[in-house]
Amino acid sequence: MKETIEIAKQVLKNNRKSGYTLPTNNKLYPAQWNWDSAFIALGYSYFNMDYAIKELETLLSGQWEDGMVPHILFHGNDETYFPNHKTWECGNKIPSSGITQPPIIATIVKKIIDKNKLDQVQMERMQIIIKKLKKYLDWFYNYRDTSKIGLVSIIHPWESGLDNSPIWDGPLNKVKIDGNLKYERRDLNVSKSENRPLKKDYDAYITLLNKLKKHKYNPNKIISESMFNVIDIGFNSILIRATKDLVEVAKKFNLDFSDLKKKTMMSEESLIKFYKDAEQSFFSYDFKNHNLIKVDAISNYFILFANIGNEDVNNKIINKLKKYNSQKKYFFTTVNPIDKTFEETRYWRGPVWINSNWIIHQGLLDKDKDFAKLTKNKTLDLLEKSKFYEYYNYNTGESLGANNFSWSAALYLDLKFS
Ligand code: DGY
Repeated sequence: MKETIEIAKQVLKNNRKSGYTLPTNNKLYPAQWNWDSAFIALGYSYFNMDYAIKELETLLSGQWEDGMVPHILFHGNDETYFPNHKTWECGNKIPSSGITQPPIIATIVKKIIDKNKLDQVQMERMQIIIKKLKKYLDWFYNYRDTSKIGLVSIIHPWESGLDNSPIWDGPLNKVKIDGNLKYERRDLNVSKSENRPLKKDYDAYITLLNKLKKHKYNPNKIISESMFNVIDIGFNSILIRATKDLVEVAKKFNLDFSDLKKKTMMSEESLIKFYKDAEQSFFSYDFKNHNLIKVDAISNYFILFANIGNEDVNNKIINKLKKYNSQKKYFFTTVNPIDKTFEETRYWRGPVWINSNWIIHQGLLDKDKDFAKLTKNKTLDLLEKSKFYEYYNYNTGESLGANNFSWSAALYLDLKFS
């Protein structure tokens, strides 16, 4: 629909600040977020390549010396968000958070380069981006793959991007909450509390943040001392795909990243061990408390995005996914509705998110074309009906969370034009 395409572009343009774009203009997220920016850049690539490249450059201008790209960059002195730069107290050149997010950026960069004919100056800018991404992905394997098996740990639920997914319930229950926590949430001023994480989740988030700060964000200390350490299927799937994509796209620039390629081979061998045939599913692993986390969440199916070369397992996962939200008008819910942790309208515990659908769609493309098409069409229908919100009710298509949500608009453009 032409009109929806124009609205999508307008959402992105309206949310744009100098060189970067807010996830929404409704004040819920008044800064630059890592994976939001990557999705946003993909959206811009359909109508303004300079904005697309600039978005990525601005994000990477906040890269830390050791290679980490933070999950939030606080470009202004905005204090309406909590926790803002005054709480985190860290950053390199730009005040930032002290944790990262799924490195979907490498896959997005490959996509933009593959789909477009960039001019020489744009290619030169992309080459600089690619070198920074190499440093970023190396950082994961250097600091987060403590067992040297090619799989990385996250040390805070915010790193996953799926903040209050029930996957974290077990690990968070073991976190000893600070006795004298003092903080004021700001999200509830602009979003309904029944759609947001609970107080007990925030208590744990802030306890973990305080501990990171106490260790001055030293990458070795924060992992060895962490009260939360999960090898997450969704996160590792995105990293493996990012690594493969970066190695491939680097060849166009005569850059040899074959050391990274070796990592992905090891990652796949390790990851397959988390496949459980009884449930025909992959499950994340609570590394700290030595438990497999048996929640049927959509991020377990991100394994399809990793493109692991095991056709038999891929087919079993696809068959299971076909039953996950069968007969429903809209999908995919963030958690299977029959799972006891499912909550229809609460953030990452039930609603449909457009980036999840996009990741699954990408994963299905070369494995089940019909199902990939169905996923795409259902996602487009939802967006055409309800426009660009943060998340949606799978029964009614009702919009939830923030309005004018950038990645919903950006990914609409990609699904529409690809
Ligand atoms: C929030 O504030 O809800 C963000 O998701 C944290 O990254």
